[in-house]
Amino acid sequence: MSRDVADRATAGFRQRYAEEPAGRWAAPGRVNLIGEHTDYNDGFVLPFALPLRTVVAAAPGPDGRWTVWSELDDEPVEFGAEQADEPGRVDGWAAYVAAVVWALRAAGLDVPGARLAVASDVPVGSGLSSSAAIESAVLAALVDLGGLDLPTGRWPRLAQRAENDYVGAPTGIMDQSVVIRGRAGHALFLDCRTEEVEQIPFDLDAAGLAVLVVDSRAPHRHADGEYAARRASCERAAATLGVTALRDVATADLDAALARLDDDETRRRVRHVVTENQRVLDTVALLRAGRIRDIGPLLTASHASMRDDFEITVPEVDTAVEAALSAGAYGARMTGGGFGGCVLALVDADAADAVAAAVTAAYAERGFAAPGTLTALPAGGAGGPS
Ligand code: GLA
Repeated sequence: MSRDVADRATAGFRQRYAEEPAGRWAAPGRVNLIGEHTDYNDGFVLPFALPLRTVVAAAPGPDGRWTVWSELDDEPVEFGAEQADEPGRVDGWAAYVAAVVWALRAAGLDVPGARLAVASDVPVGSGLSSSAAIESAVLAALVDLGGLDLPTGRWPRLAQRAENDYVGAPTGIMDQSVVIRGRAGHALFLDCRTEEVEQIPFDLDAAGLAVLVVDSRAPHRHADGEYAARRASCERAAATLGVTALRDVATADLDAALARLDDDETRRRVRHVVTENQRVLDTVALLRAGRIRDIGPLLTASHASMRDDFEITVPEVDTAVEAALSAGAYGARMTGGGFGGCVLALVDADAADAVAAAVTAAYAERGFAAPGTLTALPAGGAGGPS
């Protein structure tokens, strides 16, 4: 865990509550290597956890009360069982904390009252899953503090339910799964229907490679409404085709399925999901064979599909992808829900700076605000206490 962020959580805790925390629990942000908008279609994803972490310092508090301070805000937020039991009653960043209390209580668990202090290196609003990170770190803290009987295998669904039903964001199971189950040096191949996982070795260092993550800094344009609209469109298409989810449309049956849909937009949405699932499987096969560089064209094809068929990219992310590819990246794509957020590019480690500079130059030329860049190695998932 990065020293600084853990120290900030501890210092915040001491300052707010004038006592020592019982421990610190951490959970990372994530990027998705490939498999976008496939999770809620019961499909496949291949994300990995980032070294950037959210840390929660916590100690038991009065029964039925939760107080939480975050470095995002001067004032702590306090809520009791009545607010936690009514989805939406707590809003802003503290909603993610109340949501976890709600989900645990809804699962019949006796959640301990607690004082919490949150510090984070996961940027908010960049599409790196800062929400799954805070949910998962709080979940780990409350489970440990209360000695709750909740095996980690159940954590991702519970954290997802918190986000879906308390916060009101209709997201899939990907983010919470990788934030909880990620492993250093590996990408997480997840079947979102069965929740079966396989840790796929993704040793960038050994291959002399790096994943460059570019924060597009694009303002989120109606991201929530557009996400919900894409999800609804996929569910309608599955119903028309008579399948449980678009995961059930095999690649070989895609043309026949498309012929049964009567509007072009729905056909493009379905084509994205079905081809994207196949690209995840093809990427996994290449990684299993140790052929990391060869996944580049699949990443780039995924981006084209998100841009042309699923229509979730914006000029800033398209510019970043094009500039990275022109500067020699093996492949590049937007990662996450879309309408802004981050782009990832697979590059030779010693070319990462030059590719980042090329993206920055392309942004300047187009008059966009300067992007953020970092290189990311796959890190481990949620943990603690420390
Ligand atoms: C967001 C959601 C995920 C997933 C991605 C798109 O990150 O939280 O569940 O749907 O978008 O792949």
